[in-house]
Amino acid sequence: MAFADEITVAALEADPYPIYARLRRESPVAWVPAANVWFVTRWQDVEFVSKNAALFAAEVATSPVERSMGKPTILTCDGPPHDELRRGFDQKYKPRAVSEYIDELARPLVAEYLERIARRGEVDLMAEYFEPLSSLALARSLGFDSVDVKTLQRWFHGMAIGAANYENDPEKQAISDAANAEVEAAIIPIFEKLERNPDDSAMSRMLHDGMEPGCTRSRAFLLPSIKVALLGGMQEPGHGAGTVLFGLLTNPEQMGAVQRNLDGLLPKAVDEGLRWIAPIGTQMRQATQDVELGGVTIPAGAPVASVLSSACRDEARYKEPDSFDIHRTETGHAAYGFGSHFCAGRWFAQRLIPHLLRPLLERLPDLKLVPDRPPMFRGWEFRAPTTLHVAYRPN
Ligand code: HEM
Repeated sequence: MAFADEITVAALEADPYPIYARLRRESPVAWVPAANVWFVTRWQDVEFVSKNAALFAAEVATSPVERSMGKPTILTCDGPPHDELRRGFDQKYKPRAVSEYIDELARPLVAEYLERIARRGEVDLMAEYFEPLSSLALARSLGFDSVDVKTLQRWFHGMAIGAANYENDPEKQAISDAANAEVEAAIIPIFEKLERNPDDSAMSRMLHDGMEPGCTRSRAFLLPSIKVALLGGMQEPGHGAGTVLFGLLTNPEQMGAVQRNLDGLLPKAVDEGLRWIAPIGTQMRQATQDVELGGVTIPAGAPVASVLSSACRDEARYKEPDSFDIHRTETGHAAYGFGSHFCAGRWFAQRLIPHLLRPLLERLPDLKLVPDRPPMFRGWEFRAPTTLHVAYRPN
C-alpha cells in the first residue's frame, strides 16, 4: 500500500506535519483517498498550482466551502465575478484603508479584554482573549455591530467544521449547516438596513460601491463571500496570534529578545509563527485538464489541495523548517496563499495580530504556560491551539 493510501483524517487533524514531510520526500504529488483530494506538498509545486488558474481553477465541484456556504464565493470563482467580489473587499481591507481605522477599532477592544484578564493570574487566552478579540474586530469592520461575541465564536466554530469537511461527514455538515443558517438569518436584516442607509462598513461598501445611484449588488451574489470573510477573518488572526505566542513561550530566549525590541522583532515573530503553523492549510483547486506534476499525472477534473502549510515547512526553502525561529534569514512564507486568491484580509491581519500581542506582552511580561495544561493543536485545513492556558503575576 502506498503511504498516501494509509493517511487518515484523524492523523491529519492530530498533526499533519510528519505526514507532509514524508509526502514531500516520497510522493510530493499524491492522491489522498481519506481526504478525496490530490495533495501537492513541495513549495515550488504549491506556488505553481496556486498561481496557475488556467490549469487549476478555483471552482471545485466537490468544494466543502461551496457545499456549506453557497456559491459563488470569492474563494471558489475566477475571472470577472471574482474581480467584482474582490474589488468590494479591497475597498475596506487594502493597506491604506486598514491604516485609517485599525488603531481606533482595535485599541479599545483590546484594552477592555486585557483589563478583564489582567487581575486573574491565570487564563485560557484562546477562549478569553484571542478568539473574542479577533472575532469582534473583524465583525465590527464588516458591519456586524450588535452581534455578541459568544454568537460570533459559535458561528465560526460551526462554519469551520463545514469548510474543512473534505470527507463529507454528515454529522459535521449538520453542525455547519446550522451555523450557516444562523449567519444568514443575521445578515438579511443588516443588508436591509445598509441598502437604505449606507455606512463605512465593508458590507455596505460591497453593496453600494461602483453601483448606479439607487442600485445595490444582489444579496445572493454577496452572501456566500461574506460568510467566507466572516469565517476566515474572525478566526485566523486570533489563531495566528495564539500560535505566535506559543512559539515565544516555548522559546524563552526569543521571547526575551522580542520583549526588549517589540518594534523591531514582533513583526518577525508574527511572520515566523504564521509560517511555522499556517492557520489555513490549503488552497483548493480543480485541474482543468490532465496535468503532469511531480512525476505523476493529475487527471482533468480532479480536486487538488495546494498545501500551503507544507510549503511553509519545505526543507528545500527553509533550514530546520520545523523550528520556530524569529531570527531565520529566509524571508517570506506561504500562509496567505498565492495568486489571485491571495488573502484579501492579509493587511488587516498583519496589523491586528500585533495589536493583540503587544499590549499583552507589555502588561503581563512574565507570561508562562501552565505546566499541567499544555496547549493542544488541532486541524490540518485550519490549525491552531484549541486552548492556551497561561499564568502571570496579576496586575
Ligand atoms: C492570519 C490571518 C489569515 C490567514 C493566515 C489567512 C489566509 C488566507 C489564505 C491562505 C487564503 C487563500 C485561500 C484560498 O485560495 O483557498 C485567504 C483568502 C481570503 N482571506 Fe484570509 N487569512 C487571514 C485573515 C483574513 C482576514 C482578517 C480576512 C478578512 C478581513 C480574510 C479574508 C479573506 C478573503 C475574503 C479571502 C478570499 C480571497 C480571494 O479568494 O480572492 N482573511 N486567506
